[in-house]
Amino acid sequence: MRILLIGFGNVGRAFLQLLEEERRRFRKIGVDPKVVGVVDRGGAAIFKEGVKTSRILEVKAEKGSVAYSEEGGFPQMDALEAISIVQPDLTIEATSTSRGGSGPALKHIVKALENGSHVVSANKAPFAYDYDTVMRVALSRGRLVKYSATVGGGLPVLKTLRTLTIGDVVESCRGVLNATSNYILTLMEEGRSYSEALKLAQEIGIAETDPTMDVSGMDTAYKITIIANTIEGGHSVNEVEITGIENIRFEDLREAASSGYSIRLLGEFTEEGKLRVGPSKLKRGSTLDVSGTLNAVEFKMRRAGPVCLTGKGAGPFETAAAIIRDIFEIVEEAMR
Ligand SMILES: NC(=O)c1ccc[n+]([C@@H]2O[C@H](COP(=O)([O-])OP(=O)(O)OC[C@H]3O[C@@H](n4cnc5c(N)ncnc54)[C@H](OP(=O)(O)O)[C@@H]3O)[C@@H](O)[C@H]2O)c1
Repeated sequence: MRILLIGFGNVGRAFLQLLEEERRRFRKIGVDPKVVGVVDRGGAAIFKEGVKTSRILEVKAEKGSVAYSEEGGFPQMDALEAISIVQPDLTIEATSTSRGGSGPALKHIVKALENGSHVVSANKAPFAYDYDTVMRVALSRGRLVKYSATVGGGLPVLKTLRTLTIGDVVESCRGVLNATSNYILTLMEEGRSYSEALKLAQEIGIAETDPTMDVSGMDTAYKITIIANTIEGGHSVNEVEITGIENIRFEDLREAASSGYSIRLLGEFTEEGKLRVGPSKLKRGSTLDVSGTLNAVEFKMRRAGPVCLTGKGAGPFETAAAIIRDIFEIVEEAMR
């Protein structure tokens, strides 16, 4: 299986390392995954016989771009050209999630599918803005698209969802889907101000230097839209009513706590099919009242009732693990 990896940041690098560890497991099912191309913003590196993981990680660390690899380096070659040249069996989209639209990732995914490649994406934007387009192209080309890494990182939210919807119906869903906001709210409950809590979240590396996507509720909006799309398609993040946590005051949290409640940033997909993100009061000890960097999701099923998942959300290796799981699924489905 010839793989093209587009995006070589935290997730792309973690994926390459994890793939080495999982190689034997792939071989057991008769598959030999080879990363034959890696692309970043500086260009591409192409390797007929497969990349040497330690060498390409060194090149990236020392020179800033894979394109400066002495072997197979192509400065200026973009992802679309790399797809044409490599003709991969599987393309992994791990470029930065853009704001306000799907960005270049949609073009990468569509081009890969049109070239006969299956796709695994960690990038949320195309599945929050252009889900139906992606699925239509995949269907018309008879290729598979998987995107488990976009919601919950290591927590198998979308896989569970797909299992639950066989023979049952999801009536609604609510979830704490953004670790950074939850961490900030937890610290504020312990008496820190919003700006102190944000600074601490940045110091331990869970919040980006620009935390806008997280604290504005946008990241949660992407994720709840992707959940809604997985349930029934037809949604765009543009329809989500969003309130972030920037204006939450320490007093609000203290007041909630004194009457036995916590405040958490929830993404909601309602029974009426509406999408909403905002701070919500939750009874202390209830399913979604999780602390720190935990994620929690609750599906209300027509027959099975509430089904909950709680666990550690995103992180490069957790996300890379979700990509590996998606590749396994593609292999299994494609071999049927
Ligand atoms: N980190 C997590 O825990 C996590 C969890 C779930 C999902 N995700 C998603 O996974 C994706 C990757 O995350 P990350 O943390 O690895 O981000 P990152 O460290 O910022 O890496 C992004 C990578 O994409 C490359 N890139 C950006 N635009 C590109 C383009 N047009 N063509 C080719 N390469 C391009 C960048 O190139 P340069 O290296 O040259 O800058 C970089 O290598 C994002 O969409 C993110 O939302 C991340």
